[in-house]
This record gives sequence, structure tokens and C-alpha cells, in this order.
Amino acid sequence: MDGEFQKFLDELRSRISVADVVGAKVKLVRKGKEYMGLCPFHNEKTPSFTVNEAKGFYHCFGCGAHGDIIKFEMEANGLPFMDAVTKLANKAGLAVPRSARETPEEAHRRSSWYEITEMAAAYFEKNLRLTAGREAMAYLARRGFDENIIKKFRLGFAPDNNGLTAWLAGKNVRESDMIELGLSVLSEKNGRVYDFFRNRVIIPIMDKRGRVIAFGGRVMGDAQPKYLNSPDTPIFNKRRVLYNLNFARDSAYEHRRLVVCEGYMDVIAQARFGFAYAVAPLGTALTEEQIAEAWKIVPEPTLCFDGDNAGIHAAVRSIDRALPILKAGYSLKYVFLPDKMDPDEFLKAKGAEEYEKMLASTVPLADLLWRKVVDAVPAETPEQKALFEKTLFAEVAKITDEKVRGYYLQDMKKRLFERFRPAAPAASTTRPRVAAGSGRRGQPEPAKFRPQTVKIALDEMVGKFIAAAMLCYPALIGEYEEKTGMFEIKDQSLRQLLEKMAEIFHADETTDDKSLCEGLKAAGLEKQVNALWEVRMIRQQAPDLRKLRREIDNKILEMQLKQLENEIKDCVRELEISESFSEELYRRCQMLKQEQKKLLEEHEAKNAL
Ligand code: UTP
Ligand code: MN
Repeated sequence: MDGEFQKFLDELRSRISVADVVGAKVKLVRKGKEYMGLCPFHNEKTPSFTVNEAKGFYHCFGCGAHGDIIKFEMEANGLPFMDAVTKLANKAGLAVPRSARETPEEAHRRSSWYEITEMAAAYFEKNLRLTAGREAMAYLARRGFDENIIKKFRLGFAPDNNGLTAWLAGKNVRESDMIELGLSVLSEKNGRVYDFFRNRVIIPIMDKRGRVIAFGGRVMGDAQPKYLNSPDTPIFNKRRVLYNLNFARDSAYEHRRLVVCEGYMDVIAQARFGFAYAVAPLGTALTEEQIAEAWKIVPEPTLCFDGDNAGIHAAVRSIDRALPILKAGYSLKYVFLPDKMDPDEFLKAKGAEEYEKMLASTVPLADLLWRKVVDAVPAETPEQKALFEKTLFAEVAKITDEKVRGYYLQDMKKRLFERFRPAAPAASTTRPRVAAGSGRRGQPEPAKFRPQTVKIALDEMVGKFIAAAMLCYPALIGEYEEKTGMFEIKDQSLRQLLEKMAEIFHADETTDDKSLCEGLKAAGLEKQVNALWEVRMIRQQAPDLRKLRREIDNKILEMQLKQLENEIKDCVRELEISESFSEELYRRCQMLKQEQKKLLEEHEAKNAL
């Protein structure tokens, strides 16, 4: 054994508590500095077995058994040396160094754990095809999983007859190994060994190399728990494994995209719809280890949640995991699916194209962090604002990486400034609503160029987008009231909505999106509010205000340009067909063209900013 390996063993011993290892097998009671219990190595009625945490060993005054964690695993669980080390390493989240040269015999013995889980996987697969598996097969078909998917993911069925334990025993697998691997459980009552998974659809969990290391089992009905997962075993550490990483890796590299979702079935459904780069943690919230695993594949994995409160909550929890380990170039981004749908349900309801759209519009971690604080801390009064700032900076302080922290600070300060700066003068209530076409202060009034008195119509899509933006950021109401006033709004419910929003805003210019929404609901406009799907989109994208303003400006300009173009066309045609030259028509045409030019210039100037 070389020095490096010795050092590794020391690390193992220092990381894992003896009481923890022994406690899994022996009921321990604390007595001063030591723990005491009934010795597992000889028969006794009064405890003479002690564990000394500080010294890192156990000792029995009755039979003289004595050793450290490794020896305990070997003697109490009947494991060969390397198996004991592997098991403990997995528990500690350490990799056994390569320099741990195993004898061929030891290596063979170690791979036998994987051989056993492989045998179990094959057993479950086979059972899915037998008569007993018919219901399971029908269940999978109902969920839309065809033969290809079943084969690829090696889905199976666990019957309710302790068949696996018997079958493995028939292959000379020791019961202690079955128990160690979580395939069988020892009944405390009668000392008999039973199958762990009974009457469930089986989803094998593979490690990165594609070796079966554990299983998930789903009930076919509504019984609880819905999923049963293998316990942590010597070869399975829940906190480190991402389901489907073995298949997802290549595709993720290729597409530079890794989607982390919440469940097995979501992963499989995504694969079925052509999204092969999805993975999932195993029934727990995403851990730091799993984030680190994901970062080995792509710098910004996409976390996919349903958009209800539970989903947002889970997303926020993932921020807490991520902040301390963020580093230059590495982050997380987020997708929130609408209507409480998980990816499986979304894909079935809306299809791959819509799903792709969702994946393409992600929310960056920084936005979500901001949202977390906005949702948690009100910021109306000066005192509240101070607390808001304090909370925000406390979040940023959780970032360990100095560079990343610095840029987060800068980013959050900018947001703070945007949020708390005094309302722009344009938002003033005293400014009268201006008539059509006279929106630009200090510039030649376009109304002069327009002989027509009718307002041009506000494109419905644009109008809805603006209304949605205002709903999300009420400050925009003041800023865009004038502009929208320039247009005729044909859609009655949209008009109502905009008018009511302006009314609420003028009553209280500091109104936030929540109270605005409530106000609208109180005014009986709930249906109109809910019909604005754009709101969800904007919330999901959570753009900063500058970006949103630019988007609105661009949409309005585009619409104006389009309408101008139509007017010019009409004008030109009229000129062409009119019998005599009409000075008036000609002038109008020139003016329209001039206005078009001006708009284009404005458009360009704005975008150049
Ligand atoms: P969900 O409850 O969201 O289920 O659990 P799901 O993925 O939509 O499953 P289906 O579509 O109803 O079959 C998400 C994940 O949480 C873990 C599992 O890993 C599951 O994939 N989980 C859930 C458990 O471990 N145990 C449970 O009882 C439930
Ligand atoms: Mn589901």
C-alpha cells in the first residue's frame, strides 16, 4: 500500500464518525466521552462494547474486539477490505484513488456488487414481460412509453412474491449483499429476508459509466409512497448521482445544454420527445455535489420547475445551494413551466416545439435572486427599503468567489438604484393626456404632418404586451400612458384594462404589481388580467426595465412603421389613379414619407444607445 492510499484512508477515518458507522448496526447510548452498546461480536446481555469518537475506534471489554471504521465494516458486515473502503468512501463522498491497487481477486470481489445490481435489473426487465407484469406494461403504455423507451431505460417490474431475493439466492448471492445493496430487507420481527421493491414499476438508476447502481420503483395506482428509491448503499450515494447522466452526457455536450428536472418520468418523457439531455436528482432537492456534477458537462445547466409556488420555492432553495459555490463562468439558469405542469405533462399537452421555446427563454440566477428578495421583503417605507438592501446584500455575501461576488454586488446595486430612484418626470400625474400624434416633446409635432384626424389603431398584440408589461412593472404605466393615448384601442377589454390601470396608478404612484393586480380584480377585470398570457412570459423572462422599455418602444415603432407604410402605399395608389394631379395628396404623401424617415432615425438612434 502506498503513501497516497494511506493518506486517503486517514482522510476517510477523519471524515466519518465511528459512532455513525457502528450506530448503523449497534444501538449506542452516550456515556460521558464514550458510547456504549451490546457487542455485535459476542453474545451479551449487559453492554461492554464501547465506541470512542475522539480516538476513532471501538473496543469490547468482553471479547476484546477492537478496531476502526474499516475493520468494523469488514468484521460486522462481512466485507472484504476493499469493499469496506469503497462503502465508506461513498458515504464520505470521496473517490477511492486509483493507486489503491487491488489484487485481481479483490477487484473481482468489488465488481460483484455491480454484478448483483445488474442481475437484479435483468430480473425486473424479465418480469415486465411475464404475465405478472401485464399491469405494469399497460401502465407504461398509458404513460406513452413505447418499446424503444422501455428497452433503453431498462424499465422493469418488481412482483410481489419475494422473487428477487429467491432468484438471487439461487445465483449464490449472499443475503448480506442483497441487504447491503438495498434489494432485500431483513424483517426485525421474524428475521426473514424480503424483497425491498414489491409490485412496482422499476426504473434502474445507472452511474456515469452506465452500470446499474440502484433502483426507483413507482406504484401503479395512487398508493403512497408514490416512489420508493434504493437507500444509499456502498455503490449508490443519492447526493452525488444524477439520474440519466450516462445517456444525457453526450447529447448535453453536443447541444451545450443540460436540463435538470425533478423526476424520473420527466427525464424519460423528455427523451421520448427528443430532449436527450435531461437529468434529475433522486427524490431530494438538488445538492452542491449534483450541481458540481452538472458543471462538469455545461457551465450553465438549466433547472426546470413548474411555475407554481412549490416550483418557485424549489428554485429558490437551489439558489441557496448554488451561491456559495458559484465561480467565474459557472451558474444556473431557470425555466418555469406554466399551469403547474411538469415537463412530462407539458410535453404531452403542448408538444416539443413549445417545450423548446420554454427552454430557450431562461431566467438567469441573478434575476431569481433579485426576485427572491423582492418577494420576501416589502420596500415601501425608508426603513423597509433599508431592510431590503440589507437582505439583498446578505444574499450576495453568500457568494464565496470574490470576482463573482463583486459583479453580483454591482448588478444588484444597479437594480436597487432602478427600483428606488424617484419616479421619472414623465410619470407625473399633472401632465394632461395629449391628443393623437403629439407624443414627442421638443420635436416637430407629428400631428402637423397628419391631415387625418383619426387615431391610428393600436395593434392588439402590441397593446396586450404593453398592458402585460405595465401589470408586471406598474412604473411603466406613467411612462407609457402618453404613448398609448396616441392610438385608438379597438379591443374593448384591453381599453378597459389600460384605463383602470392608469386610474389605480394615479391614485397611488408607488403601487406595486401585487396591489395593482388586486385593484384590477376588485374592479371586476380579473378575466382580462388572466387572459394576458404575456404576463407569464414577462415574469419568466424577468427582463430588466431598460430592456423591457426598449422592447415596448421597438414594438410601437414597428407597428407605426408598418401602418405608415400602408398609408403611403394607399396614398401612392390614389395618386396614380387620380385623373388630375392632386397637390393635397402629393403633400400628404411627402409628409408621410418624412415621418417614416424620422421614425426610422429615431428607431436607429434608440437602438444604438
Ligand atoms: P413528483 O411527485 O413530482 O412525481 O416527484 P412525478 O415525477 O411527476 O412522477 P409521476 O409523473 O407522477 O410518475 C418528483 C420526484 O420526486 C421523487 C422521485 O424521484 C420523483 O421522480 N419522489 C416523489 C420520491 O422519491 N418519492 C415520492 O413518494 C414522490
Ligand atoms: Mn409527473
